[in-house]
Amino acid sequence: MKKVILGLIALTLFACVDSVETHRTNYKDKNAPIEDRIEDLISQMTLDEKIKQMNQWTYGKNANPNNIGDEMRKVSPEIGSLLYRSTNPEYRNQIQKKAMEDSRLGIPIIFGFDAIHGYRTVFPIPLGQACSWNRNLVKESCRISAKESWLSGLDWTFSPMLDVARDARWGRVSEGYGEDSYANAQFAIAAVQGYQGNDLADKYTIAACLKHYIGYSLSEGGRDYHYSDISRQTLWETFMPPFEAGIEAGAATVMSGFNDISGTPASANHYTLTEVLKEKWGHDGFVVSDWGSVRNLVEQGVAKDLKVATEKAFMAGIEMDMVDNTYVDYLPELVEEGKVPMASIDEAVRRILRVKMKLGLFENPYVDVVPENERYLLPEYLETAENLAAESMVLLKNENETLPINSNYKSLAIIGPMVKDSIHIMGFWEGKGRPEDVETIYEGLRKEFNGKATLNYALGCDFDGDDKSGFKEALNAANSSDAIIVFLGEKRNWSGENGSRSTIALPKIQEDLVAELQKTGKPIILMLSSGRPLELIRLNEMADAIVEIWQPGTAAGSSVAGILSGRHNPSGKLSITFPQTTGQIPIYYNMRESARPKLGHYQDIPRDPLYWFGHGLSYTNYDYSDVTLSQTKIKRDKKLIAEIEVTNSGNVDGKETVLWFIKDPFATISRPMKELQFFDKKLIKSGETETYRFEIDPMRDLSYVDSYGEKHLESGDYYVIVNDQQIKFEIID
Ligand code: NOJ
Repeated sequence: MKKVILGLIALTLFACVDSVETHRTNYKDKNAPIEDRIEDLISQMTLDEKIKQMNQWTYGKNANPNNIGDEMRKVSPEIGSLLYRSTNPEYRNQIQKKAMEDSRLGIPIIFGFDAIHGYRTVFPIPLGQACSWNRNLVKESCRISAKESWLSGLDWTFSPMLDVARDARWGRVSEGYGEDSYANAQFAIAAVQGYQGNDLADKYTIAACLKHYIGYSLSEGGRDYHYSDISRQTLWETFMPPFEAGIEAGAATVMSGFNDISGTPASANHYTLTEVLKEKWGHDGFVVSDWGSVRNLVEQGVAKDLKVATEKAFMAGIEMDMVDNTYVDYLPELVEEGKVPMASIDEAVRRILRVKMKLGLFENPYVDVVPENERYLLPEYLETAENLAAESMVLLKNENETLPINSNYKSLAIIGPMVKDSIHIMGFWEGKGRPEDVETIYEGLRKEFNGKATLNYALGCDFDGDDKSGFKEALNAANSSDAIIVFLGEKRNWSGENGSRSTIALPKIQEDLVAELQKTGKPIILMLSSGRPLELIRLNEMADAIVEIWQPGTAAGSSVAGILSGRHNPSGKLSITFPQTTGQIPIYYNMRESARPKLGHYQDIPRDPLYWFGHGLSYTNYDYSDVTLSQTKIKRDKKLIAEIEVTNSGNVDGKETVLWFIKDPFATISRPMKELQFFDKKLIKSGETETYRFEIDPMRDLSYVDSYGEKHLESGDYYVIVNDQQIKFEIID
């Protein structure tokens, strides 16, 4: 009898266990809810397997000289992520196969790389992209970049960079969308949508990474990696909005910055990484450290050794360590000592697995392998590259309609170190762009002006140094031409990471070349390629026309030539202010008013910068009507419509961007002199009129954020500002 009872108990127990087993979600079941799959997987992982998910390995030599260091360690099939520098999709698939088949649980690796402004097709640097004010083109460039990247074995790019940058000495000003928070937020949305598409699990989409969270651009004096003193007010008002917008747009990942934010480095900052990002904004993806930013906590003096650095970074909210191995080396003992709770490890792994699940990597771990000519530089990619480059270029000055080049100019001198360059013109972070893919300015001009004008080329001088031996040849070319086009600029690594400069003027040799050419008395057109705003106070006087072409990338030749010939009508407007001199930094359009507005300016230079944010000319004329408002008094919960008509009264079609600013002249806390709240770009055919409309949502567009991140809308007077028009309206309770 006893035996029978025992047997029955055993049977019942077995049946129970069996039924639990059969109802438990299997993480490999693609039809099960993602969160259940993640829990199932985590429940089966060892601590070692979990920690390996939280580390990013790399191999080979990073294209970025600042990151050279760690050679790839032997690839273990259990690794969480790989910074993948090869362009070979087959190699990626082999590594992935190892992870899928040789690791105990078959967890796919996420492969990341810096495709910042293109992968093989190189688009203009982001600072230039922002000057296009064309959300669609920016989004399209990111979509193309994602496709080229995915077909090369990538799942993830470390882009977009959303550091609102107001100090052009900081080289990384080139990598972001300029000095304004709203502009950065809008391009953050465009970039995330472009990279991630509608569904991360689709082919050709890759995860975006918002960086560098946060306040990195305020590194003191523009010296890269330095301390950044940021009040909570500035943090919320200036730096947070682009990140918040990118998170709302669904960005899968975030990268923590190198900088020390007022004593608590960005990579050890619980407030920004956990309280804001995860708790307030609800981000459910993961944070990766920047290269070495965990290790750097020791240099920054907040950790006495790497173990403490690991604990601080992890507990602050960084889930993945980029290539430093600190998590692998120290987390096991930190867990054992109870300094890092197992629940926190699980939460970090959960976030990483969630991104991998959303990418569909468990079901589709491999990328398609197609021949290179179907992968890169397709005609439509080059067309987008040309259009985005052309729209990013800013016509700063155009005395006597020197541009576009007209038929009176039968011969053109084309002079300067940028003319035949195919390296620097791609800018920093050129991805996998190759000089041989670049159409140089020289090639572009030859095509554009073939049969229309003779081109007389001379180098003139190098980017820097003091060798003036080429000046004579340049003068000869100038003397035998009707107009002189001088192509000056910066080398690619004068901006970008670790690309700080104490002056934003071009080297003297380049300015001297122009001074020499000016002696001919012929019209001088300056074409400037740079990764930052330049100090143009001297060059501005010498030139009849100036175009800032930024670092346009693969389609440099066709875009530059098109701007010069008029095939492209310039439509770029500055996303960042050009100061008179380096000493005028910081100067940006949305500063706060001084106590004595007429006083206190530098005595040796004009009060205003040389070219304000928003400045940019065209080959046509736009006539703006008066701004109309649907009401002049509105309740705080109602919307107000502002409209303006813009007529193209010139002879050529053009694209015009209307920038809408708001001014709040009096509030509980002081407000900037004006703030961009909306922009819109439209094609206006010659002789036609377009209506631009800004629907003002008071809470969204008129409120201010306080130092706790709370929004406040106060009743009273406001102004909507377009160009020189300033129209008052009132918010009532
Ligand atoms: C360091 C840079 O700061 C960051 O922007 C980049 O994504 C990583 N290195 C990886 O290359």
